Amino acid sequence: MKRPFAMIAGTGHAVPKRRMSNDEFQALGIDTSDEWIRDRTGIRYRYVAGEGETLTSISTEAARMAMQAAGVTAAELDAIVLGTASPDHLLPSTAVEVQAALGATRAVAFDIAAACSGWLYGAQVAEGLMAAGHYETVLVIGAELLTRIINWKDRNTVVLFGDGAGATVLKRSTRGRGIISAYMRSDGTLATLLHRPKGGAACPSTPEIIAEGSDKIQMAGREVFKNAVRSMADACDRALDGAKLAASDIDLLIPHQANIRIIEATAKHANIPMEKVFVNVDRYGNTSAASIPIALDEAVREGRVHDGSVVLFVAFGAGFTWGSMVVRF
Ligand code: UT7
Repeated sequence: MKRPFAMIAGTGHAVPKRRMSNDEFQALGIDTSDEWIRDRTGIRYRYVAGEGETLTSISTEAARMAMQAAGVTAAELDAIVLGTASPDHLLPSTAVEVQAALGATRAVAFDIAAACSGWLYGAQVAEGLMAAGHYETVLVIGAELLTRIINWKDRNTVVLFGDGAGATVLKRSTRGRGIISAYMRSDGTLATLLHRPKGGAACPSTPEIIAEGSDKIQMAGREVFKNAVRSMADACDRALDGAKLAASDIDLLIPHQANIRIIEATAKHANIPMEKVFVNVDRYGNTSAASIPIALDEAVREGRVHDGSVVLFVAFGAGFTWGSMVVRF
């Protein structure tokens, strides 16, 4: 494959209606404060799905926006790749539900389970599909309803996560635009630092499991933090090396939005000033697979990404999974 092969031709995003501020946690009996959450994470708000809102509904809304921006109809989609850790159903995939909602009858559709790296993995898998054969137009979505899979009594996690969907349409590259370098890694030996211990096929849900909350996300925050900084820093170097670019060639860094301190440490290592870093963790919290495509869509609509912009993406998540990508728009 000669790069750039695939380009990002359109973006969109959607969130549930309800926005929840840090102050609202105390009323739910959680021992935390707006000050602690802002100081340690940078988060001020997140969106929380309500009745009738599903991963499929917000993903479909984000997808329609991205398809409109790209000038692509549902009938033209060859594939739908959806990164998520919170699918509407364990069977079938949310991607096929989105396919049905869009009426994208020709598209092959499947989910990718790579947690916060879901969109980044999805984009690289889409590029590979396109390079391998008959795929011209691929919808890549990162979407989560994390508030449905967190333990609402656990202050270590409940304040961090939010819901949302981001979508991108990938098409064949024209005029030298598109993915110019890409990097993906995984390390399953550290899986239990961020996971849902029970409730899967290895240990199906029981009333006891539900009562103790072991079917919900559990995280060793400090350990994950250290690994995230180390891996994202390395991934930035790899993507720049792969693209044969220097940090000064990057117009915008769009990192996974988990914690402002992780973002700042990553930018510092990559030698990219914070003016060139897109940050929206304050308004969305950590939306896992959705965080990068939501940030990208906002950056595009704010005019921070335009024709010719060179953008460095970097992600890290449960698994562990991580990776990076340089894209010329
Ligand atoms: O999406 C990719 C994966 N996720 C991440 O990248 C997240 C990575 N981790 C983090 O962002 C941070 O580790 C956290 C924000 C989760 C925690 O920040 P920290 O500075 O690492 O704090 P800590 O875990 O070391 O905890 C400090 C203290 C503890 O109290 P003690 O043991 O020192 O008395 C916690 O019990 O803060 C306490 N604490 C809280 N206090 C108030 C933990 N959660 C809360 C809370 N409100 N919500």
